[in-house]
Amino acid sequence: MEHERVLVLDFGGQYNQLIARRVRDLKVYCDLKPCTMTVEEIRAYAPVGIIFTGGPNSVYDEKSPQIERAVFDLGIPVLGICYGCQLIAHTLGGKVESAPSSEYGKREFSFCKDSPLSEGIPQTSVCWMSHTDRVTAVPEGFEIFAATPDCPATVFGDLHRNIYGVQFHPEVVHSQYGNKLLENFLYGVCKAKGDWTMHNFVSEQVARLKEKIGGKKVLCAMSGGVDSAVAATLVHRAAGNLLTCVFVDHGLLRKGEAEEVMRVFQGQLGMNLIKADAGGLFLKKLKGKLDPEKKRKIIGKQFIKVFEKEAKKIGSVDFLVQGTIYPDVIESGKGESAVIKSHHNVGGLPSVVDFKEILEPLRDLFKDEVRRVGTELGLPESVVQRQPFPGPGLAIRIIGEVTEQKLETLREADFIFREEIAKAGLQREIWQYFAVMTNCKTVGVQGDFRTYENVIALRAVTSVDAMTADWARIPADVLERISTRITNEVKHANKIVYDITSKPPSTIEWE
Ligand code: XMP
Repeated sequence: MEHERVLVLDFGGQYNQLIARRVRDLKVYCDLKPCTMTVEEIRAYAPVGIIFTGGPNSVYDEKSPQIERAVFDLGIPVLGICYGCQLIAHTLGGKVESAPSSEYGKREFSFCKDSPLSEGIPQTSVCWMSHTDRVTAVPEGFEIFAATPDCPATVFGDLHRNIYGVQFHPEVVHSQYGNKLLENFLYGVCKAKGDWTMHNFVSEQVARLKEKIGGKKVLCAMSGGVDSAVAATLVHRAAGNLLTCVFVDHGLLRKGEAEEVMRVFQGQLGMNLIKADAGGLFLKKLKGKLDPEKKRKIIGKQFIKVFEKEAKKIGSVDFLVQGTIYPDVIESGKGESAVIKSHHNVGGLPSVVDFKEILEPLRDLFKDEVRRVGTELGLPESVVQRQPFPGPGLAIRIIGEVTEQKLETLREADFIFREEIAKAGLQREIWQYFAVMTNCKTVGVQGDFRTYENVIALRAVTSVDAMTADWARIPADVLERISTRITNEVKHANKIVYDITSKPPSTIEWE
């Protein structure tokens, strides 16, 4: 089934992926495409509506991205947000001017006239502004529907041609009725039906995969991470035992994780899952290695070697499953490729596996959609809501040499940290939280004895994409409980510190 779709044209603003996610949450499929798309390409894409995103430029900058005027003659509804709305005004003969001062943050705005965009929104509400330029005169045929004291055309539009502009950002949560405004555009203006649900996605993908796979063999490298787990489960629905998953246990996972992977995927789902126990090998290769980059390289290389050995036992396959997701494939605003971050350490696999084609069943999905698909497929919360975890695992959370004993201490401390965060109900608010073995020993006193043991650091950050992050403001009493429990229950730890650096200048991991 072909879904109705909306085209989100990317003019380089920071909230652009968020706009696309909001549209999809409203059950309308959309793609985020570079603003360099031509009118012909847009016509061929056949969207039910077009959204122009915000962007950092001024429409008057020499190099600022523009839009062909003919886009407005396609008869497709348009919504311009921030820079997008200024571009509409500029292209169609309105006036855009620099305001005496920039408008950032929450602002009250009031509707002065009804329009399809204002349906169900109070006359006055709060919106989120972030601009310097503003529209001071709307083009011919347009009307002003809302204003703030500093922004005379906060919402405007041409009711006949279904072209609308909003100066604020409806996609951010600080815009009180922003989501309602987007819903009004999609359903009231574009007349969308709303056929994008994860339930539909699963049934369509399973049917598609069944047809594609036929009776052929499929291989998947399972890391235990959300993306590979959901991709494998989806393919398993379609291909059953034609799918073989290989799970390389490098012995650097957190407490209970390897067991959980086996319990869920082999035990509950009945997957054909091979576990390669390689903990000893990895430890041997890491012996005496102190440099973080060397450690990463060793782990990456060994991982591929172990996987290759298992794959050879299986022999040639027709398909290799990869957990690529939408943010990995989106191109940036100007049509250049975005930096693609390898989401787990199986990036080097294709060259060592004998296969004909790659299957990427999640490549159209955002992370939150991947999680919802996982839930739809019956995967437990612990798998679906798993926090990001680096491919090299605990090896990059043990500063310096990795040893069995340090791994043991770290696993126990990390487990307590995770348990207490869950008890405090904070796990959804925090992007990542984990313990670190600092490679630093301090003097302590336990009972009546002097101890000389390890300093454990706690790292917890909030983030939206791991590119930037802030340290999480965990309540002091929760931190206190974690500190008390670790020093009481975990051997070889006598001091707990909390990392209060943001990224930049720091990074999330310690190595
Ligand atoms: P940093 O430490 O660079 O981490 O702020 C950003 C995000 O990436 C994860 N990370 C990795 N993931 N292999 C991975 O698959 C790696 O080598 C690696 N290093 C860092 C990190 O956990 C965070 O989510």
